Amino acid sequence: MAIMWTPDLSVGVDHIDEQHKIWFEKANELFEAGKEGRAKEYINTMIDFLDEYSKKHFKDEEAYMEKIGYPGLDSQKKAHASFVNNLAKLKSDFNESGGNITVIINANKMVLDWLINHIKSMDKKIGEYVKTL
Ligand SMILES: [Fe+2]
Repeated sequence: MAIMWTPDLSVGVDHIDEQHKIWFEKANELFEAGKEGRAKEYINTMIDFLDEYSKKHFKDEEAYMEKIGYPGLDSQKKAHASFVNNLAKLKSDFNESGGNITVIINANKMVLDWLINHIKSMDKKIGEYVKTL
């Protein structure tokens, strides 16, 4: 089962959607690599990428919300911070398990489920707000 961005996840703001798509692509690569039992170094590189990319993405998203005066900015910031923590936990769980691939697959899936729910419940509201401007 692949992890994929689907059109129902569209927020309706192009640059946010584009970043979400890249995020999903990379997470899927990580997921696939885990299933195929590819090198441990690769997994670490990928988690580092996802960690950096999510921070960049959240920063861009927050700057955009600030620019448009989005009223839900604070709760978005909290949700983003919690996601960054989940990702850090994923990485430490992986390292503590001695590189157990199952740990990474389960944790990655958990993080992605979180992201999907976040996009559906919170990010979509940004697009709805934009329409009212
Ligand atoms: Fe968000």
